[in-house]
Amino acid sequence: MATDRDLGIAVVSAWGLLRSDPVRAWEMLAATGARGLRLATESGAIGSLLTTEASPAAVSVLSANAALVPGFDRVTVRAADARTRPPESPFDYVDVDPYGTPAPFLPTALDALEDGGLLAITATDMAVLAGAQKAACLRRYGSNPVPGSLGPESGLRILLAFVDRTLHESGRSLHPLVSYVLDHHVRFYAEVRRGGPPVPEGMVPTVGFRGPTLPSGGPFGPLWVGPLWDRSFVARLTVPATAHHPKEVGQLLDRFRGESEVDVPFVYEPNRIARRLHLSEPPSLESLFEALRAGGYRVARSHTRASAFRTDASQAEVEAAARRATDDQSQNARVRA
Ligand SMILES: C[S@@+](CC[C@H](N)C(=O)[O-])C[C@H]1O[C@@H](n2cnc3c(N)ncnc32)[C@H](O)[C@@H]1O
Repeated sequence: MATDRDLGIAVVSAWGLLRSDPVRAWEMLAATGARGLRLATESGAIGSLLTTEASPAAVSVLSANAALVPGFDRVTVRAADARTRPPESPFDYVDVDPYGTPAPFLPTALDALEDGGLLAITATDMAVLAGAQKAACLRRYGSNPVPGSLGPESGLRILLAFVDRTLHESGRSLHPLVSYVLDHHVRFYAEVRRGGPPVPEGMVPTVGFRGPTLPSGGPFGPLWVGPLWDRSFVARLTVPATAHHPKEVGQLLDRFRGESEVDVPFVYEPNRIARRLHLSEPPSLESLFEALRAGGYRVARSHTRASAFRTDASQAEVEAAARRATDDQSQNARVRA
């Protein structure tokens, strides 16, 4: 999770620079404190940090780790159930980083967050969110998940829609700054604002959807179909000087910046297109991008899968570009031979 925590430092540092006051933070599920204590020492944004943890064994390691933090009096360690709102609330930043679903912690997290505050949520129950356990997803998140390779992004969108729906009960809304799929989890950072536009979520049909072909079993959702990134915020993100995995973080930030320019649901992959069209070989990303850009479409490589890309072109337009790109590739190969 070191890369994930590196990203957290990038996000909270950038967010802190937009504020005049130091951030009052709560890490609800702290374990041994690796995430929260790194934020407190490395982001330069945290004024005070409350860490809560239920496991006595974890709390004793957490206390020992917190004692090593310079300016230890800024950090409070408490053996407590995170589902109880702490007396120090409200907080500017609340981090929910559970094993499995964040759902049980959501009401307290939202209750304890200041209007305009930053909410960070992880979910690791990917079998449920990414479509392998459809009945459990309907039960837990009230949403029909997309199975297959688009499942993880669909899971991220299900989680965002779920949190946003919960927020609307108290007249607030979600404004995502950074959302991503990484390893076996999804995570987002979003501002929670009073009021806000109508919920950008909806059912996504299997037939008639403008984006990539979806598997059977739809309509899918409700899914968050609004932006996953705030473009101007993502442009401010830099690799933290203290990053454990600077190369990976740099690459993820590059992808986020690109995707924030083409922030539409779901990604295409050259080999899937080639299979669907029975092409002799998949088009290279370079030639496909060239063909799509020539048609006036935006394209960006996606962080979600190695060869995946996002574009505002429809499936039909992507397929036409793929045929052209593959023809050009074969012609070039013949000329070389
Ligand atoms: C995934 S770990 C947290 C990891 C941590 N945020 C980090 O980055 O190192 C989840 C933690 O939540 C704790 N936990 C589970 N239920 C809890 C509850 N109701 N209240 C407080 N802590 C709880 C578990 O003991 C576990 O240590």
